[in-house]
Amino acid sequence: MASAVVKTLRPTGRVLRSIAPLGLNRRGNAWFEDVEMGPPDPILGVTDAFKRDKNPRRLNLGVGAYRDDCGNPWVLPCVRCAEEIVIEKQLNKEYAPITGLPEFCAKSIELALGKDSYVLKDKRNATAQSISGTGSLRVGSAFLAKFWKGNREVYVPTPTWGNHIPIFEHAGLPVKKYRYYDSDTCGLDYKGCKEDICKIPPESIIVFHACAHNPTGVDPNTVQWCELADLVKYKCLFPFFDMAYQGFATGDVDRDAQAVRIFESKGINFGLAQSYAKNMGLYGERVGALTIACESEVEASRVLSQLKIIIRALYSSPPLHGARIVTEILTDPNLYDMFLKDLKTMADRTIGIRQKLKDGLMHHGSKRRWDHITNQIGMFCYTGMNPDQIERITKEFSVYLTKDGRISMAGVTSKNVEYLAKAMHEVTK
Ligand SMILES: Cc1ncc(COP(=O)(O)O)c(C=O)c1O
Repeated sequence: MASAVVKTLRPTGRVLRSIAPLGLNRRGNAWFEDVEMGPPDPILGVTDAFKRDKNPRRLNLGVGAYRDDCGNPWVLPCVRCAEEIVIEKQLNKEYAPITGLPEFCAKSIELALGKDSYVLKDKRNATAQSISGTGSLRVGSAFLAKFWKGNREVYVPTPTWGNHIPIFEHAGLPVKKYRYYDSDTCGLDYKGCKEDICKIPPESIIVFHACAHNPTGVDPNTVQWCELADLVKYKCLFPFFDMAYQGFATGDVDRDAQAVRIFESKGINFGLAQSYAKNMGLYGERVGALTIACESEVEASRVLSQLKIIIRALYSSPPLHGARIVTEILTDPNLYDMFLKDLKTMADRTIGIRQKLKDGLMHHGSKRRWDHITNQIGMFCYTGMNPDQIERITKEFSVYLTKDGRISMAGVTSKNVEYLAKAMHEVTK
């Protein structure tokens, strides 16, 4: 073990001589010897197991990123064009403002709320560019942890995106759950959801997935969103929308934003985390935005000033490149049109492959109802397979998926859909 004579100056100025082992504490132990090994990320664990499998037909359906019909990552053509324009501009690399590029913020919130938004007309939005959806949720949760005066519990649907709970808990807000998914119908447990929301203490925070709920792919319909908004208003809850898939779900940016817009139209103020990871395919660029819709313009400017303080301490200012790409796309009418077409390409492929999977199951003679495959929406399908079936499909067919039975439709292609349908049928018959 390494040790050395350490000379330390005492406050008196006299030299203190001691033998101290290098890198160890005074008891001779490593500083971090009590740190336990953390569990591996469940999704990365699926990918690791997939990589070890030598079966040429192996399928990785754990990953939440879009793939084209050949199974390759896809850079949206609108993003390629916007990136060229950004590079041609030869912009400098100075820091972005703490809350990001002003035009990016203005255009992002307009994309979410639409041009006719009252919040925008009244300038009641405090909007900050942030580090994709996760960073926006994290800054929002830090803001609520510091300033929320109501019940400090955050209610999330069961199940929810795996990162919601750590994000809110990391900010110091305890997380509770409300019913959402009905495993009997593989659809929405609307009755249970409303019953649980009725029991939430007034002035609590409630998280909604704005569209394409992850992991279930199950969304409330328009009427249900309206009723949920009324309930939230009646119970005086603060809705925090996580909108990670605007336009990716149906191919229509306005339709996918309906939940947030319904709440807004009922005069409910809200938090909103936007991500450009999926709808613009800017996963690794980390581009997103956080908005707190306030009661007045003055309140919004005070809230924004506090968001600045939080962001400054967390990461100082957001990255530039991705936000510049998004700004080009949202400000240039031609690029915006391309964006809408690219979105449709992704959404249509995902919707189409759902149908093919369902047809394939029927074709193989499955007697089960698989309507939920096409009723669910977005990147993920909650198959309803039980743990034994999931284990079998992985062992016998090299189909890799998360332990909750969620498959990423983005990983299913015209070439492998038959194989997947057969494998699902074999383990569920
Ligand atoms: C529901 C939900 N929220 C937020 C995110 C955030 O992703 P990112 O931080 O990459 O934007 C995701 C990504 O999978 C998601 O599914």
